[in-house]
Amino acid sequence: MNSQPLVGRVAIITGASKGFGREIALALSRAGASVALIARSADALAAVASTIQSEGGTAIFRVGDITHESDVEALAADVQARFGGADILINNAGINIRKEITEFSLAEWNQVLNTNLTGAFLMCRAVVPLLKGRGYGRILNLTSIMSHAGLPGRTAYAASKAGLLGLTKALALELAPLGITVNGISPGPFATEMNQPLLNNPELNRQFLTRIPLGRWGEPSDIGALVVHLCRPEAGFMTGTDLVVDGGWLAQ
Ligand SMILES: NC(=O)c1ccc[n+]([C@@H]2O[C@H](COP(=O)([O-])OP(=O)(O)OC[C@H]3O[C@@H](n4cnc5c(N)ncnc54)[C@H](OP(=O)(O)O)[C@@H]3O)[C@@H](O)[C@H]2O)c1
Repeated sequence: MNSQPLVGRVAIITGASKGFGREIALALSRAGASVALIARSADALAAVASTIQSEGGTAIFRVGDITHESDVEALAADVQARFGGADILINNAGINIRKEITEFSLAEWNQVLNTNLTGAFLMCRAVVPLLKGRGYGRILNLTSIMSHAGLPGRTAYAASKAGLLGLTKALALELAPLGITVNGISPGPFATEMNQPLLNNPELNRQFLTRIPLGRWGEPSDIGALVVHLCRPEAGFMTGTDLVVDGGWLAQ
Protein backbone atom coordinates (compact mmCIF):
# COMPACT_ATOMS: atom_id res chain seq x y z
CA MET A 1 0.00 0.00 0.00
CA ASN A 2 1.23 3.53 -0.84
CA SER A 3 2.84 4.89 2.36
CA GLN A 4 2.38 8.51 1.22
CA PRO A 5 -1.21 8.58 -0.07
CA LEU A 6 -1.71 12.25 0.84
CA VAL A 7 1.04 13.94 -1.17
CA GLY A 8 -0.36 17.25 -2.48
CA ARG A 9 -3.13 17.37 0.14
CA VAL A 10 -3.50 20.21 2.66
CA ALA A 11 -4.80 19.34 6.13
CA ILE A 12 -5.94 21.64 8.94
CA ILE A 13 -5.77 20.20 12.46
CA THR A 14 -7.18 21.88 15.56
CA GLY A 15 -5.73 21.21 19.01
CA ALA A 16 -2.45 20.10 17.47
CA SER A 17 -0.22 21.03 20.42
CA LYS A 18 -0.54 17.67 22.20
CA GLY A 19 -2.52 14.44 22.53
CA PHE A 20 -4.44 13.17 19.50
CA GLY A 21 -3.97 16.44 17.60
CA ARG A 22 -0.18 16.15 17.71
CA GLU A 23 -0.33 12.49 16.66
CA ILE A 24 -2.76 13.27 13.83
CA ALA A 25 -0.60 16.15 12.55
CA LEU A 26 2.52 13.95 12.52
CA ALA A 27 0.69 11.06 10.86
CA LEU A 28 -0.86 13.24 8.13
CA SER A 29 2.48 14.89 7.44
CA ARG A 30 4.26 11.52 7.24
CA ALA A 31 1.53 10.45 4.79
CA GLY A 32 2.55 13.37 2.57
CA ALA A 33 0.08 16.15 3.48
CA SER A 34 1.05 19.74 4.20
CA VAL A 35 -0.44 20.70 7.54
CA ALA A 36 -1.82 23.85 9.20
CA LEU A 37 -2.10 23.70 12.97
CA ILE A 38 -3.91 25.71 15.64
CA ALA A 39 -3.89 25.58 19.46
CA ARG A 40 -3.38 28.07 22.29
CA SER A 41 -0.01 26.87 23.68
CA ALA A 42 2.58 28.66 21.54
CA ASP A 43 5.68 26.69 22.56
CA ALA A 44 4.07 23.26 22.28
CA LEU A 45 2.49 24.10 18.92
CA ALA A 46 5.76 25.48 17.53
CA ALA A 47 7.51 22.30 18.71
CA VAL A 48 5.07 20.11 16.73
CA ALA A 49 5.55 22.26 13.61
CA SER A 50 9.31 22.13 14.06
CA THR A 51 9.29 18.32 14.41
CA ILE A 52 7.33 18.09 11.16
CA GLN A 53 9.72 20.45 9.39
CA SER A 54 12.74 18.52 10.69
CA GLU A 55 11.25 15.39 9.09
CA GLY A 56 11.01 17.21 5.74
CA GLY A 57 7.29 18.00 6.02
CA THR A 58 5.50 21.31 5.48
CA ALA A 59 3.75 22.86 8.49
CA ILE A 60 2.37 26.27 9.28
CA PHE A 61 0.70 27.17 12.55
CA ARG A 62 -1.37 29.86 14.21
CA VAL A 63 -1.46 30.29 17.96
CA GLY A 64 -5.15 30.81 18.54
CA ASP A 65 -8.38 29.81 20.22
CA ILE A 66 -11.02 28.00 18.17
CA THR A 67 -13.78 29.60 20.23
CA HIS A 68 -12.68 33.00 18.88
CA GLU A 69 -14.21 33.71 15.49
CA SER A 70 -11.33 36.02 14.55
CA ASP A 71 -8.64 33.37 15.24
CA VAL A 72 -10.53 30.79 13.17
CA GLU A 73 -11.03 33.20 10.26
CA ALA A 74 -7.35 34.19 10.44
CA LEU A 75 -6.25 30.54 10.25
CA ALA A 76 -8.45 29.94 7.20
CA ALA A 77 -6.96 33.07 5.59
CA ASP A 78 -3.41 31.83 6.37
CA VAL A 79 -4.18 28.49 4.68
CA GLN A 80 -5.77 30.12 1.64
CA ALA A 81 -2.79 32.47 1.25
CA ARG A 82 -0.13 29.77 1.73
CA PHE A 83 -1.73 26.80 -0.03
CA GLY A 84 -4.61 28.19 -2.13
CA GLY A 85 -7.19 25.91 -0.46
CA ALA A 86 -7.49 22.86 1.77
CA ASP A 87 -8.51 19.21 1.47
CA ILE A 88 -8.84 17.91 5.02
CA LEU A 89 -10.19 19.42 8.25
CA ILE A 90 -9.67 17.61 11.56
CA ASN A 91 -11.82 19.09 14.34
CA ASN A 92 -9.89 17.65 17.25
CA ALA A 93 -9.55 20.42 19.87
CA GLY A 94 -11.63 19.65 22.93
CA ILE A 95 -11.82 19.94 26.70
CA ASN A 96 -13.54 18.07 29.50
CA ILE A 97 -14.76 19.43 32.85
CA ARG A 98 -15.83 16.61 35.14
CA LYS A 99 -18.26 17.52 37.95
CA GLU A 100 -21.83 17.02 39.09
CA ILE A 101 -24.40 19.20 37.36
CA THR A 102 -25.18 21.19 40.51
CA GLU A 103 -21.48 22.14 40.77
CA PHE A 104 -21.26 23.51 37.20
CA SER A 105 -21.07 27.27 36.74
CA LEU A 106 -22.68 28.60 33.58
CA ALA A 107 -19.23 29.78 32.49
CA GLU A 108 -17.84 26.23 32.77
CA TRP A 109 -20.81 24.76 30.88
CA ASN A 110 -20.37 27.35 28.14
CA GLN A 111 -16.61 26.74 27.99
CA VAL A 112 -17.15 23.04 27.24
CA LEU A 113 -19.93 23.64 24.69
CA ASN A 114 -18.05 26.52 23.06
CA THR A 115 -14.86 24.50 22.64
CA ASN A 116 -16.21 21.09 21.68
CA LEU A 117 -19.22 22.12 19.60
CA THR A 118 -19.23 25.79 18.65
CA GLY A 119 -15.50 25.67 17.87
CA ALA A 120 -16.14 22.87 15.38
CA PHE A 121 -18.98 24.90 13.84
CA LEU A 122 -16.71 27.95 13.46
CA MET A 123 -13.97 25.83 11.88
CA CYS A 124 -16.36 24.15 9.43
CA ARG A 125 -17.92 27.48 8.46
CA ALA A 126 -14.50 29.02 7.77
CA VAL A 127 -12.91 26.02 6.05
CA VAL A 128 -15.72 24.58 3.88
CA PRO A 129 -15.18 27.34 1.27
CA LEU A 130 -11.52 26.25 1.05
CA LEU A 131 -12.52 22.59 0.52
CA LYS A 132 -14.98 23.23 -2.29
CA GLY A 133 -14.28 22.46 -5.94
CA ARG A 134 -11.29 20.13 -5.41
CA GLY A 135 -13.05 16.84 -6.22
CA TYR A 136 -12.15 15.48 -2.80
CA GLY A 137 -12.67 16.57 0.80
CA ARG A 138 -12.56 15.14 4.30
CA ILE A 139 -13.90 16.53 7.56
CA LEU A 140 -13.24 14.36 10.62
CA ASN A 141 -14.67 15.34 13.98
CA LEU A 142 -13.32 13.90 17.23
CA THR A 143 -16.55 12.80 18.82
CA SER A 144 -16.42 10.36 21.78
CA ILE A 145 -18.02 7.31 23.30
CA MET A 146 -19.83 10.06 25.25
CA SER A 147 -21.60 10.89 21.95
CA HIS A 148 -23.28 7.51 22.37
CA ALA A 149 -23.44 6.81 26.12
CA GLY A 150 -23.22 8.68 29.39
CA LEU A 151 -21.18 8.66 32.59
CA PRO A 152 -21.88 10.52 35.82
CA GLY A 153 -20.13 13.88 36.00
CA ARG A 154 -19.96 14.29 32.21
CA THR A 155 -23.15 16.25 31.40
CA ALA A 156 -21.47 19.12 29.56
CA TYR A 157 -18.97 16.90 27.77
CA ALA A 158 -21.59 14.32 26.72
CA ALA A 159 -23.97 17.08 25.55
CA SER A 160 -21.20 18.69 23.50
CA LYS A 161 -20.11 15.40 21.93
CA ALA A 162 -23.67 14.26 21.14
CA GLY A 163 -24.13 17.68 19.52
CA LEU A 164 -20.96 17.22 17.50
CA LEU A 165 -22.26 13.88 16.21
CA GLY A 166 -25.46 15.62 15.11
CA LEU A 167 -23.44 18.32 13.35
CA THR A 168 -21.41 15.56 11.65
CA LYS A 169 -24.48 13.83 10.20
CA ALA A 170 -26.23 16.99 9.01
CA LEU A 171 -23.08 18.47 7.47
CA ALA A 172 -22.35 15.16 5.71
CA LEU A 173 -25.68 15.45 3.90
CA GLU A 174 -25.07 19.11 3.11
CA LEU A 175 -21.62 18.47 1.61
CA ALA A 176 -22.26 15.11 -0.07
CA PRO A 177 -23.16 16.73 -3.42
CA LEU A 178 -19.71 18.37 -3.35
CA GLY A 179 -17.86 15.08 -2.82
CA ILE A 180 -16.76 16.12 0.67
CA THR A 181 -17.22 13.45 3.34
CA VAL A 182 -17.87 14.21 7.01
CA ASN A 183 -17.42 11.58 9.72
CA GLY A 184 -16.83 11.22 13.42
CA ILE A 185 -14.18 9.25 15.28
CA SER A 186 -15.35 8.23 18.76
CA PRO A 187 -12.42 7.23 20.95
CA GLY A 188 -12.92 5.41 24.21
CA PRO A 189 -10.41 5.98 27.03
CA PHE A 190 -6.96 6.91 25.70
CA ALA A 191 -3.87 7.82 27.67
CA THR A 192 -3.61 11.53 26.82
CA GLU A 193 -3.24 14.61 29.01
CA MET A 194 -7.03 15.03 29.06
CA ASN A 195 -7.25 11.81 31.09
CA GLN A 196 -4.35 12.50 33.48
CA PRO A 197 -6.76 13.05 36.42
CA LEU A 198 -8.02 9.47 35.85
CA LEU A 199 -4.63 7.93 35.00
CA ASN A 200 -2.99 9.49 38.06
CA ASN A 201 -5.70 8.31 40.47
CA PRO A 202 -5.07 4.59 41.21
CA GLU A 203 -8.70 3.90 42.18
CA LEU A 204 -10.22 5.69 39.15
CA ASN A 205 -7.61 4.13 36.87
CA ARG A 206 -8.53 0.65 38.17
CA GLN A 207 -12.27 1.37 37.73
CA PHE A 208 -11.72 2.44 34.12
CA LEU A 209 -9.50 -0.54 33.29
CA THR A 210 -12.13 -2.98 34.57
CA ARG A 211 -14.66 -1.35 32.21
CA ILE A 212 -12.46 -1.64 29.10
CA PRO A 213 -12.89 -5.15 27.66
CA LEU A 214 -9.43 -5.08 26.05
CA GLY A 215 -8.04 -4.28 29.52
CA ARG A 216 -5.86 -1.29 28.60
CA TRP A 217 -5.98 2.39 27.71
CA GLY A 218 -5.81 3.25 24.01
CA GLU A 219 -2.58 4.46 22.37
CA PRO A 220 -2.92 7.98 20.87
CA SER A 221 -0.82 7.03 17.82
CA ASP A 222 -3.60 4.60 16.77
CA ILE A 223 -5.86 7.58 16.10
CA GLY A 224 -3.28 9.15 13.76
CA ALA A 225 -3.12 5.96 11.71
CA LEU A 226 -6.92 5.76 11.54
CA VAL A 227 -7.19 9.37 10.34
CA VAL A 228 -4.71 8.68 7.54
CA HIS A 229 -6.76 5.67 6.49
CA LEU A 230 -9.99 7.70 6.43
CA CYS A 231 -8.29 10.29 4.22
CA ARG A 232 -7.33 7.68 1.61
CA PRO A 233 -9.41 7.57 -1.58
CA GLU A 234 -10.53 4.04 -0.60
CA ALA A 235 -12.50 5.52 2.34
CA GLY A 236 -14.39 7.91 0.07
CA PHE A 237 -17.77 6.14 0.21
CA MET A 238 -18.07 6.55 3.98
CA THR A 239 -19.91 9.65 5.15
CA GLY A 240 -22.27 10.82 7.90
CA THR A 241 -21.21 8.10 10.28
CA ASP A 242 -18.99 7.55 13.28
CA LEU A 243 -16.16 5.10 13.92
CA VAL A 244 -15.90 3.87 17.50
CA VAL A 245 -12.39 3.02 18.77
CA ASP A 246 -12.98 2.09 22.39
CA GLY A 247 -11.46 -1.27 23.33
CA GLY A 248 -14.99 -2.68 23.41
CA TRP A 249 -16.51 -0.18 25.92
CA LEU A 250 -19.77 0.40 24.00
CA ALA A 251 -20.29 -3.29 23.19
CA GLN A 252 -21.23 -4.01 26.81
N1 LIG B 1 -8.34 11.10 25.28
C1 LIG B 1 -9.48 10.45 25.23
O1 LIG B 1 -9.63 9.40 25.87
C2 LIG B 1 -10.60 10.95 24.36
C3 LIG B 1 -11.75 10.16 24.28
C4 LIG B 1 -12.80 10.59 23.46
C5 LIG B 1 -12.69 11.78 22.76
N2 LIG B 1 -11.57 12.53 22.88
C6 LIG B 1 -11.55 13.79 22.13
O2 LIG B 1 -10.38 13.86 21.34
C7 LIG B 1 -9.96 15.22 21.21
C8 LIG B 1 -8.51 15.34 21.64
O3 LIG B 1 -8.40 14.86 22.98
P1 LIG B 1 -6.98 14.65 23.70
O4 LIG B 1 -7.19 13.52 24.64
O5 LIG B 1 -5.89 14.65 22.72
O6 LIG B 1 -6.94 15.99 24.59
P2 LIG B 1 -5.69 16.84 25.12
O7 LIG B 1 -4.47 16.00 25.22
O8 LIG B 1 -6.19 17.55 26.33
O9 LIG B 1 -5.49 17.88 23.92
C9 LIG B 1 -6.51 18.78 23.59
C10 LIG B 1 -6.03 19.71 22.49
O10 LIG B 1 -7.05 20.68 22.24
C11 LIG B 1 -6.47 21.98 22.28
N3 LIG B 1 -7.47 22.96 22.67
C12 LIG B 1 -8.31 22.93 23.74
N4 LIG B 1 -9.09 24.01 23.76
C13 LIG B 1 -8.74 24.75 22.67
C14 LIG B 1 -9.19 25.98 22.14
N5 LIG B 1 -10.16 26.70 22.73
N6 LIG B 1 -8.62 26.45 21.00
C15 LIG B 1 -7.64 25.74 20.39
N7 LIG B 1 -7.18 24.57 20.84
C16 LIG B 1 -7.72 24.08 21.97
C17 LIG B 1 -5.32 21.85 23.26
O11 LIG B 1 -4.31 22.79 23.01
P3 LIG B 1 -4.02 24.12 23.87
O12 LIG B 1 -4.30 23.79 25.30
O13 LIG B 1 -2.60 24.39 23.52
O14 LIG B 1 -4.97 25.12 23.30
C18 LIG B 1 -4.78 20.47 22.89
O15 LIG B 1 -3.91 20.58 21.78
C19 LIG B 1 -10.92 16.03 22.08
O16 LIG B 1 -11.94 16.57 21.28
C20 LIG B 1 -11.48 15.00 23.03
O17 LIG B 1 -12.73 15.36 23.53
C21 LIG B 1 -10.54 12.16 23.66
